[in-house]
Amino acid sequence: MLSQKTIEIIKSTVPVLEVHGTTITTVFYKNLLEAHPELLNIFNHTNQKKGRQQNALANTVLAAAKYIDQLETILPAVKQIAQKHRSLVVKPEHYPIVGEYLLAAIKEVLGDAATEEIIQAWGDAYGVIAGVFINMEKDMYDQAANQNGGWADFKPFTVVEKVRESDVITSFYLKPADGDSIPSFLPGQYLTVRMEIQGEQYLFNRQYSLSDAPGKEYFRISVKKDKTGISPDGRVSNYLHESIQVGDSIDITVPAGDFTLDNKMQTPLVFLSGGVGITPFMSMIHALADQQSERDIQFIHASENGAVQPFREELTGLTEKLRNYQLSFVYKNPSQDDQNLPNYEKKGYMDAELLGNHLKPDADYYVCGPVPFMKSIVTHLKELGVDSEKIHYEFFGPAMAL
Ligand SMILES: Cc1cc2nc3c(=O)[nH]c(=O)nc-3n(C[C@H](O)[C@H](O)[C@H](O)COP(=O)(O)OP(=O)(O)OC[C@H]3O[C@@H](n4cnc5c(N)ncnc54)[C@H](O)[C@@H]3O)c2cc1C
Ligand code: HEM
Repeated sequence: MLSQKTIEIIKSTVPVLEVHGTTITTVFYKNLLEAHPELLNIFNHTNQKKGRQQNALANTVLAAAKYIDQLETILPAVKQIAQKHRSLVVKPEHYPIVGEYLLAAIKEVLGDAATEEIIQAWGDAYGVIAGVFINMEKDMYDQAANQNGGWADFKPFTVVEKVRESDVITSFYLKPADGDSIPSFLPGQYLTVRMEIQGEQYLFNRQYSLSDAPGKEYFRISVKKDKTGISPDGRVSNYLHESIQVGDSIDITVPAGDFTLDNKMQTPLVFLSGGVGITPFMSMIHALADQQSERDIQFIHASENGAVQPFREELTGLTEKLRNYQLSFVYKNPSQDDQNLPNYEKKGYMDAELLGNHLKPDADYYVCGPVPFMKSIVTHLKELGVDSEKIHYEFFGPAMAL
């Protein structure tokens, strides 16, 4: 329990943190990783370079400071982060290390403004917040390990099939190297792939959504080759595409994540995906088809063009199993052939007009794609009067404010 005084101190530091939040976490990461380079086997180096991880942590620390006397308010956010931590095998013993460097960073950035009292209060508060994470993660580790076919951290899986889904997306079918069964998962969840890349000092961890329904003998992930020509080639996705072949082994975690369907609901569903953001919806739609769901489903996918678009036939093939299913494709730059496809809806973007045409009373909207795509869709949906609670989204990277 924190004292009233501590709570007041924490709350009074929120305005300062709002100004310095990202600077503090940037200093924190730099010092932490210099002192503990072994943590580079866990952290995503690219997210660090791009600052996304620092922002995510800063936002959370701020939210925690604001709600320190009612932490239950931020439990959904904590749960989402804890899922990510579990998928990266963050352990209780890591928390004191992170706490030490976080406090030191607050001290360094705030200088004289960080009095002994403030640092003490933050030390206490960090202990409380870390306790919430550790407890929640313990339950998640237990559940991961104790289920049928489950395990605790990483386990080697063999690539049994590699399927080209489009010019840029390839699926990998994975089976346990020890021949064991695989655990079930919730459609929409992801797993972490941990790669050892030749010539690299540290391991790389990346999350990939499962792209097929649970209940199969394999996990399927579908990976976009991240090659822009402007910034450096994506490390893991290119390695998977080019160097990982059928028969190779890769280490993965038990699926994690809370971007899932509520199966108790019968509300209409609207899936809105951009690019490779389609993957969690492939798992959801296959699971719905396996149950021969009668839910009203609208699936709209946006791609650059037909050549980079994955799963077209797989999606059109589900019409027999799903009675109330409408599917349409939006292309930014369609070829003539793309425009003749049966499910072609329009050239351009998934804009307010298109979304307005597909609004359904009471529907749940699921959104996944690049950050600018999600920003625009979520903004349009809200402007069209959709309740925030009915809009669900997943970031393919550290969460951000939209
Ligand atoms: C929950 C979740 C689910 C996901 N599901 C999927 C999925 O189903 N399919 C999928 O393909 N991906 C998915 N992702 C994304 C995936 O985890 C990886 O982020 C993606 O594959 C890119 O990894 P990479 O190692 O190839 O690229 P990275 O090496 O991490 O690079 C990513 C991008 O950053 C750029 N970059 C690198 N360094 C810098 C720099 N210094 N400055 C600026 N830019 C830089 C690169 O050019 C590249 O475009 C998911 C992510 C999450 C969090
Ligand atoms: C109370 C303390 C902590 C808080 C508030 C916190 C907060 C966060 C947040 C907000 C994210 C981003 C989640 C997302 O949207 O993907 C995250 C990710 C992560 N955290 Fe923590 N964290 C804490 C402790 C730790 C500890 C102790 C470790 C282990 C060293 C750790 C390792 C990571 C890693 C590796 C990621 C993913 C990074 C990435 O993908 O770039 N965290 N954490």
